[in-house]
Amino acid sequence: MQEQGLYDTFGRKHNYLRISLTDACNLRCTYCMPDEKVIVTPSHKMMQVDEIVEIAKVFVSLGVNKIRLTGGEPLVRKDAKLIIQQLAKLPVELSISTNAVLVNEFIEDFKQANIRSVNVSLDTLNADDFLKITKRGEFEKIKQNLFLLVKEGFKVKLNMVVMKGINENAILDFIELTKDFALDARFIEFMPFSGNDWNREKVFTQTEMLQLIQTKYNVLKLEDELNDTAKKYKVPGHKGNFGFISTVSNPFCNTCNRLRLTADGKMKNCLFSEGETDLLNAYRNGINIEPLIIENLQAKKQALGGRFDFENIENRSMIKIGVKTKPLIMHNKFPLRR
Ligand code: GTP
Ligand code: 5AD
Ligand code: SF4
Repeated sequence: MQEQGLYDTFGRKHNYLRISLTDACNLRCTYCMPDEKVIVTPSHKMMQVDEIVEIAKVFVSLGVNKIRLTGGEPLVRKDAKLIIQQLAKLPVELSISTNAVLVNEFIEDFKQANIRSVNVSLDTLNADDFLKITKRGEFEKIKQNLFLLVKEGFKVKLNMVVMKGINENAILDFIELTKDFALDARFIEFMPFSGNDWNREKVFTQTEMLQLIQTKYNVLKLEDELNDTAKKYKVPGHKGNFGFISTVSNPFCNTCNRLRLTADGKMKNCLFSEGETDLLNAYRNGINIEPLIIENLQAKKQALGGRFDFENIENRSMIKIGVKTKPLIMHNKFPLRR
């Protein structure tokens, strides 16, 4: 007999909901939102504060006990503070993934909401490279906010998307940063999404990253937690740790516990899933969304949304997991661990 909870047909228990608050962003990272001309989703199509809370409550009643707020950039949403306050009342571990541009305005709100863990996206420690990657000049502000979070005692995970030929040199800079700063630097394999100019040659794999790091540092493997995206390591003597998120060369689908809700209220059972369930319109029409959630989860595929060869598939771009659908062609030439 399985315990109560949100189980899929592969016996994976789902207790972690990622809610996208907006598809808008104050940066234009090439790998995420390459298009400068962003079509803003009309507000009435987005989940409103009370709708986010009520839909989240249904997930919680079904067994979700961890919620991460994402985007776009979640903190650009005008009512972000109110959403954080309201979600903080639910019996969940609340956390957020942000580019940190606005974090200094939210420190007290995070504390009051008992947000302990903040994941910050930053792909280089070089101001010129930062401008090239994000097309915006917010580097100093982000750096200050990153240090502010560490100083204020938050558990900080720093996400660096590694693109071969563009920023792989920054890996060693981030390892050096972990010497004095107690944060987890996480090196992420560049994933293919709509319009982000992905090709296999640009993927710097986990194996290559580790080899690069070992040219300069001795490293120690740490124990990974069951549902962690990252394989964790440490340089002995450094205050912080580092890790790899290897979605492309070595996906971690076997232990996936994640569900997603897009800013326009669609449920996705995987980052790469084709099917979406419109929970927001169902909710607005007075329909009980509980069976819809369960039905959506039952359709979850074993790995990568069932797209083992990643050929000619369609998906939202990363920022739109998130909101709109764009065509995407992925050619995955890496072997998959199933
Ligand atoms: P915690 O484990 O709660 O700290 O968060 P996280 O690492 O899942 O979230 P974060 O928003 O920091 O995302 C970091 C990276 O994890 C992303 O760039 C993705 O590469 C990867 N990731 C997050 N969610 C998923 C997912 O559902 N599937 C896959 N394949 N990768 C994901
Ligand atoms: N490949 C890997 N990670 C990505 N992210 C955004 N786009 C990509 C991509 N193409 C990361 C961001 C952020 C996290 C939520 O997803 O850097 O840290
Ligand atoms: Fe914005 Fe984050 Fe996407 Fe960069 S990765 S464009 S910061 S949402």
